[in-house]
Amino acid sequence: MPALILDGKKLAAQIEAELAEQVADFIENNGREPCLAAVLVGDDPASGVYVKNKRLACERVGIESQLHCLPAATTEEDLLELIAQLNSDDEVSGILVQLPLPSQIREQKVLDAVHPLKDVDCFHPENVGLVVQGRPRYLPCTPHGCVQILHRYGLGAAGKHVVVVGRSEIVGKPVAAMLAQKESHLGPASCNATVTLCHSRTSNLPEICRQADILIAAIGKPKFVQGDWIKPGAVVIDVGINRLPDGLVGDVDFDSAKEVASAITPVPRGVGPMTITMLLLNTLAAARAQVA
Ligand code: GUN
Repeated sequence: MPALILDGKKLAAQIEAELAEQVADFIENNGREPCLAAVLVGDDPASGVYVKNKRLACERVGIESQLHCLPAATTEEDLLELIAQLNSDDEVSGILVQLPLPSQIREQKVLDAVHPLKDVDCFHPENVGLVVQGRPRYLPCTPHGCVQILHRYGLGAAGKHVVVVGRSEIVGKPVAAMLAQKESHLGPASCNATVTLCHSRTSNLPEICRQADILIAAIGKPKFVQGDWIKPGAVVIDVGINRLPDGLVGDVDFDSAKEVASAITPVPRGVGPMTITMLLLNTLAAARAQVA
């Protein structure tokens, strides 16, 4: 039987509807809107699309947004100056620096400069540390989107073998940490997994993937994970967004995978829309944290 398609776009719309009510309450109680400041350096077309989608999502739920566009030749010093201004601007609840940054700018230096309370991407080392210790202030957006998809489809992770392919700071490492925790804000069924974190130097990758009850692909290689790497009945979460000449594809070969998995996220309409919705949740949380 072909796999159940895990519709991230539909879930994101449901969560946005819940969030719009919470944003309206926040505005009524505080007399101001939560505000997301997005910083875009250079003219990478994909980054431009992501930032536009984030701004549109803010609009849909009543969050104000600012866009700060800087030229590709911007110096690290100038970008740090902008971050410092946004850090001290009481109107700004959350700051999002769209990655990647041009090569003359040290990404880590910039991400470290965002005030931890305004770090709605959850990239600051203080916030990453809190996630790893199981006492998160904010949750990283894409990992949180993956966990929400599992939770809202009733697919528990507790006791399951989760195999994560890809050890990035943005997805692989934090999603592995979150799913291995004892506790989650979504309840004990949404964590307590046995997690294997694989990467480009892993030996016998297909064999390890075949042991997964839940397989999370976040390696950034188009159609990398094949159907015969998947255990029959496993759940597959495809985090990849790869632009090929004939459109967007994930890190999983969807056509072969859907014949083996019991459930799978598509690309597009899978994890991507959930990532943006999780950013909105963090922006409201940041606004609340700054009036508290
Ligand atoms: N570039 C690719 N993914 C992300 C993300 O989640 N946040 C930011 N800021 N940039 C990205």
